[in-house]
Amino acid sequence: MGAVRETVDYRKKNGVVRNDFVNLLLQLQQNGQVDPDHDSPDKGKEVSHSPDTDFTLTDELLAAQCLVFFVAGFETSSTTMSFCIHELAVNPHIQDRLRDEVDSVLSKHGGQVTYEAVHEMSYLDMVVAETLRKYPPLTELDRICTVAYTIPGSNVKIEEGTKLIIPVYAIHHDPKYYPDPEKFDPERFTEEQKASRHHFVYLPFGEGPRICIGMRFGLIQTKLGIASLVSKFIFSATSKTPAKLQMDPKATVASAVGGINVRITART
Ligand code: HEM
Repeated sequence: MGAVRETVDYRKKNGVVRNDFVNLLLQLQQNGQVDPDHDSPDKGKEVSHSPDTDFTLTDELLAAQCLVFFVAGFETSSTTMSFCIHELAVNPHIQDRLRDEVDSVLSKHGGQVTYEAVHEMSYLDMVVAETLRKYPPLTELDRICTVAYTIPGSNVKIEEGTKLIIPVYAIHHDPKYYPDPEKFDPERFTEEQKASRHHFVYLPFGEGPRICIGMRFGLIQTKLGIASLVSKFIFSATSKTPAKLQMDPKATVASAVGGINVRITART
């Protein structure tokens, strides 16, 4: 609350406008709507909002949005990067292939890890997708049933109002969908392999109207991190690196018992 209040007070007092999330929330609080971008086709037009709601964005709610974006936005991506580094350390052939791709794409882009460069890295996309399959940072999704539903082919009826847990980790480790599920295998994410599976057996970002709002941002920041690390360092297993990580059953965001231990060597 203090950090947000200080930022808001400072901006108001000094007339500071920054093109960021806090600015959007301030516009929403002050005008009941977010202003269109300067170069947006909507600039100058009246933007509709919902005058029929009596919703007020209080300072507490504003701070809560900042907290949720901070927790949901950083912990998930850094967890993904950590598990990815572990798998690269215990699978040197995958690490070598990834580094070859990163080196070759970066050389075309003047050595800069840019948005465009990362989009060209198709093997990186497969490696990150497989990391999110094996270690989904949010291991379950929560829902409340809004319409009574009978699961097809069974007599299981879910009544309206029932709280449901969708077991993402268990689905991602079900050998019916992912044979030899403990094996880290980015080849599961070729276009062909992806098309052969039911869409909902891969849920690292959830699904439906409440799917992760930061999915693209989360993916790009994770890939930027991995590409930049792999271009500068080599990761290898040590005596403290288990081949199979033991997951902490009590963790809210997936985490390994004893943390992640790898040797990091700068490339020469
Ligand atoms: C690798 C990175 C990330 C993963 C694995 C992840 C995963 C998830 C999952 C599983 C959900 C629940 C979706 C559902 O119930 O269907 C979620 C929701 C959410 N995520 Fe992410 N997320 C990531 C990055 C981010 C980032 C970068 C942000 C913001 C900058 C973010 C903001 C949110 C918010 C605000 C929600 C709640 C959305 C709602 O309830 O409408 N996430 N995320």
